[in-house]
Amino acid sequence: MARIEKNEMRKTKIGAALTMLIVTVVAYTCIKLIGELVGEVTAQELYASAFDEHVDSTGQIRLPKDFQNSWVFLGSWAIDGSQTNQTGAVGFHNVYTQPGVVDYFKLNGNFPDGAMLIKELLASETGEMTTGTVSHATEVQGWFVMVKDHVGRFETNPLWGDGWGWALFNADDPENTVTTDYRQDCLTCHVPAREDDWIYLSGYPHLNL
Ligand code: HEC
Repeated sequence: MARIEKNEMRKTKIGAALTMLIVTVVAYTCIKLIGELVGEVTAQELYASAFDEHVDSTGQIRLPKDFQNSWVFLGSWAIDGSQTNQTGAVGFHNVYTQPGVVDYFKLNGNFPDGAMLIKELLASETGEMTTGTVSHATEVQGWFVMVKDHVGRFETNPLWGDGWGWALFNADDPENTVTTDYRQDCLTCHVPAREDDWIYLSGYPHLNL
């Protein structure tokens, strides 16, 4: 009789432990899935909200604040100084976009509505370091901004067209763009990248990795 009771108790214990294990695994999976979903939605909201936060109702583009800390760094262009007889780089162009844009691009092969590309211009200095002759970025000189527009929202605004909003901000006035007409101020220089939706994709390896 006692042995049967012991066996029964053992079975109950094993049953309880199994139930706990299953509950834990299910709960963990649910929390992880919800977390991933929320993360994805938040990332999408970041580029979807561009037209609420960084573009006004007439299509004037505002430079996002503090993007260097919370956006994704896409890549850097170093401007060679040898053409002007200088050693190393004479400037860096660092390009950023919102979180979520890289994932969207990898999936769809293009930029989502509201995606922004910001190219920050930085001066540079070159010196001898333990790694060799090295250039590093110094002060900010300005920002080139593009905003992806799938809808054709601001047809009469000369900052908008060819699927993008276009604006340049000088470092001394980040509030107001100096661009008046993207066709004159921007487009001709981006013609070599026309096939890639006007973007110089070769500088952003993580869009394709
Ligand atoms: C002198 C030619 C030139 C002009 C003018 C120009 N761009 Fe560009 N832009 C480039 C080149 C070349 C790159 C990539 C290499 C680099 O930055 O050196 C680039 C890169 C960019 C990038 C990063 C995304 C990309 O395409 O790789 C943005 C954003 C950008 N330009 C916006 C603008 C805007 C907005 C204007 C007009 C206000 C403008 N550009 C005018 C030549 C130009």
